[in-house]
Amino acid sequence: MSARPTLLLVVPVSWAGLWLPWLDQAGLNVLVHGRDSYVPKDIDYIQSFRPPHGLLKTFPNLKAIFSLGAGVDGFLSDPEFPRHVPLVRFVDPQLSTEMAQYVVMHTLLQHRRQRDFDAAQERGKWAQKVLPRRTADTRIGILGLGEIGTVAGERLRDLGFPVSGWSRSRKNVRGIESYAGKNEFEAFLRVSDFLVCLLPLTHETRGILNAATFSKLPEGAYVINVARGGHLIEQDLIASIDSGHLAGATLDVFQTEPLPESSPLWRHTKIIVTPHVAAITDPRIAARYVIAGIARSERGEMLENVVDTDREY
Ligand SMILES: NC(=O)c1ccc[n+]([C@@H]2O[C@H](COP(=O)([O-])OP(=O)(O)OC[C@H]3O[C@@H](n4cnc5c(N)ncnc54)[C@H](OP(=O)(O)O)[C@@H]3O)[C@@H](O)[C@H]2O)c1
Repeated sequence: MSARPTLLLVVPVSWAGLWLPWLDQAGLNVLVHGRDSYVPKDIDYIQSFRPPHGLLKTFPNLKAIFSLGAGVDGFLSDPEFPRHVPLVRFVDPQLSTEMAQYVVMHTLLQHRRQRDFDAAQERGKWAQKVLPRRTADTRIGILGLGEIGTVAGERLRDLGFPVSGWSRSRKNVRGIESYAGKNEFEAFLRVSDFLVCLLPLTHETRGILNAATFSKLPEGAYVINVARGGHLIEQDLIASIDSGHLAGATLDVFQTEPLPESSPLWRHTKIIVTPHVAAITDPRIAARYVIAGIARSERGEMLENVVDTDREY
C-alpha cells in the first residue's frame, strides 16, 4: 500500500474543477483522466459516472470504483467492466430529498390541474375547476421502493395520498402498501393512478414502462419517469396518451440524452420534459462520501453500498 492512495477522477476535464477543491483536502493523490499522465497500475481508486467503455479494465490494482450517481447502469453497460472490483454507488439523503421534491411537484402539478390554469391564464380566462379526484382517492404507485422511492413515497403519503410501492423484496414502511416481485406487479399497477418509476436500469427492468404495463393502469393514469430513459418505450407512452388511456406524463430521462430536437416528446401537450435534472449530485457531499469510503477501504473495513453486479444494482 502506498502512503497516499491514488484516486483517478474520470469525468469530463471541464467538470474536474467542481470536485478537486473537496478531494484535494483529503491527503489523497488525486489525478484527472485526460488531464494528468499516470501509469494504470498506480491507480488505487476511481471516481466516475459514465466512464468510457473498456477503460476500467485497464487498471490492474483497483481497490474500488465509486459512482458519482445513484444509478450504476453507466458502468455495468461496459461489457468489459471489471466485476471483481467493488463498485460503490452514491447514496445521499439530500439527493433522495431532491428527487422526492421533483416527484411531489409533478404529482401535484397534475393532481391540482396547474397546467390547465396556466393555459387559462394565458387566455385571460377565469377557469374555475374542481379537483378531478379527491386526494384520498388518488393512488400513487412507486416502482422501486429503495433509497429514493421510499422517501418520495413517504412525502406523498404525508400529503394524504394512498401510496403503494413495488420492489423485489417485501417492505415494511408505515402507511405504504408493499407489493413484491413479478407475481404482484399487475395488482400493483391496477391501484396506481400515478405511476412513478424509481427503479435501477437492469436487464429485468429495461423497457418496463411499455404498452402492456400502461394497459393495466387505471384509465386516466399519469406516468412520471425519473429513473432512466431505458425504462420507457417512448412510442408506447405516446400511443397510450393519444388513445386517451393515459392522462399524460412527466419525463426527466430519455432513451437518447440530450433529447433530440426531432423528438415528438418535446411538443406533446400532455408530456412535461425536463433535462435530467431531478437531482444533481452535490460535489462536496460526493467528495466526502468517496473520501470516507477510501478511508474505510484503507483500514481494511467493508465498503458500504457496494453494488451486486449480478442484480445490477
Ligand atoms: N433523474 C435523476 O436525476 C436521478 C437521480 C438519482 C437517481 N436516479 C435513478 O433512480 C434509481 C433508483 O435509485 P435508488 O438509490 O433509490 O436505488 P435503490 O436504493 O437501489 O432502489 C432500487 C429499488 O428498485 C427495486 N428493484 C430493482 N430491481 C427490481 C426488480 N427487478 N423488480 C422489482 N423491484 C426491483 C429494489 O428492490 P429491493 O429493495 O427489493 O432490492 C429497490 O427497492 C437509480 O438507479 C437511478 O437510475 C435518477
